[in-house]
Amino acid sequence: MDQNFVSRERDRLLKELGDFLAIPSISALPDHAPDCRKAAGWVMDQCRQLGLPVVELIEGNGHPVVWAESPPVAGAPTLLIYGHYDVQPVDPIAEWISPPFEPTIRDGRMYARGAADDKGQVYCLLKAYEAARGADGHPPINIRFLIEGEEECGGSVITELLEREPDRARADAILICDMAYFDVGWPAVYTALRGLCYAEIHVRTAERDLHSGSYGGVAPNAMETLARLLCDLKSRSGKINLPKLYKSVRRPTRQELKAWRALPFDEKRFLKEEVTGKALTGIQKASVLERTWALPTFEIHGIKGGFVGEGAKTVIPAAAMAKVSLRLVPGLSFEKVAKWLTKTVQKVAPKWADVEVRILHGGDPVQVDIDHPAFGLLNQAFTEVVGRGTVPVRSGGSIPVVTQFAKSGSPVILTGIGLPDDGLHSPNEKLDLQQLWEGIDVFARFYEKFAELPRA
Ligand code: BES
Ligand code: MN
Ligand code: MN
Repeated sequence: MDQNFVSRERDRLLKELGDFLAIPSISALPDHAPDCRKAAGWVMDQCRQLGLPVVELIEGNGHPVVWAESPPVAGAPTLLIYGHYDVQPVDPIAEWISPPFEPTIRDGRMYARGAADDKGQVYCLLKAYEAARGADGHPPINIRFLIEGEEECGGSVITELLEREPDRARADAILICDMAYFDVGWPAVYTALRGLCYAEIHVRTAERDLHSGSYGGVAPNAMETLARLLCDLKSRSGKINLPKLYKSVRRPTRQELKAWRALPFDEKRFLKEEVTGKALTGIQKASVLERTWALPTFEIHGIKGGFVGEGAKTVIPAAAMAKVSLRLVPGLSFEKVAKWLTKTVQKVAPKWADVEVRILHGGDPVQVDIDHPAFGLLNQAFTEVVGRGTVPVRSGGSIPVVTQFAKSGSPVILTGIGLPDDGLHSPNEKLDLQQLWEGIDVFARFYEKFAELPRA
């Protein structure tokens, strides 16, 4: 391994990462489709510069997938690396201190949309390849990169690719670096991801909007109907009102709960610095980590309808819509929850309203075993660089394709170089550069250690 790689190449690395982050590859917005393609092309160029002999752009019905292979090393194990080059939308844009696609370094942190989720981490894994190059120009293992562009928008290009060509997921281990340390100095490995059920609820109460003087007091109001309906779905106590939901949840084991209680979690700091609110909500008898890792959620993402322009307009809205989602934990499936949500909405809808539930996308929760020897190698690499090995945690977030990887039978290593306060999906997303430099070192070592993977 090249010990001085980072200190020698620092300026070039910052410039390269800046170029990647400057591409506004927002997968959810159709206007940015060309930018997604550009980001895919950028990843391909990087792979070519690393000397990877196979670099492919795989098309589907949406943003393309990048596939690359290192020179074959006969008899050596194969590591598949998954990541995504797409990013979330940037609104509210006014809250960014520097523009989201003008990467800016402040206080040793790189600020830009995608800095941590996931471009900065994809970049880290590419540069670890460069740092781990031996005399023959590549790490001593077989590496495949599978970098998609629809992780953030629920696309199906990668799903369909893996259904069509399941062999692409065949590897001795799959490495996903799209998460964070548990805390500063505490690298993490993830044992579960939550699933998701994302939906729109459409309400119509009349053919057209009405004068609230002439008809107020008698005409049904779509906004009010929707608001009450949403409140019916979740109680003030935080309990989600879908029958069967909690009964189906598979509880974490006693050992897991015990290990979580031993983690260095500071609830006050979490509330003040990450949540930035006045109180934590939800089911109070469960701990914060249980609430974010092991229980389902119901969140309202946005509500549309009625008059929200300047000034006052006295109107009774005839239509309203809400975007909502549930996070799913082990024991729940996307299919079941989608059915329960649709049924419950229809049940609580008043007779004067036409209510429709449109399921947009979703995925099942996953749990992964972390006792495969590959996890030991990652633990060693982190220990050597950071001075502490990986703590097992869960994630409240989702990465839809992981269910498919888990089914392939290969061990799935979920880890990351982010920090909890990176602000994923928020304004002023950032990546601490120290985390990036350490990460390059960690994964370069991991690639080398992976050559020694004990195999069945
Ligand atoms: N990198 C995140 C997943 C994540 C979030 C891991 C928080 C650890 C902590 C990923 O890019 C993401 O945001 N996933 C989406 C998936 C959804 C759009 C289907 C999510 O969780 O909302
Ligand atoms: Mn991500
Ligand atoms: Mn994300």
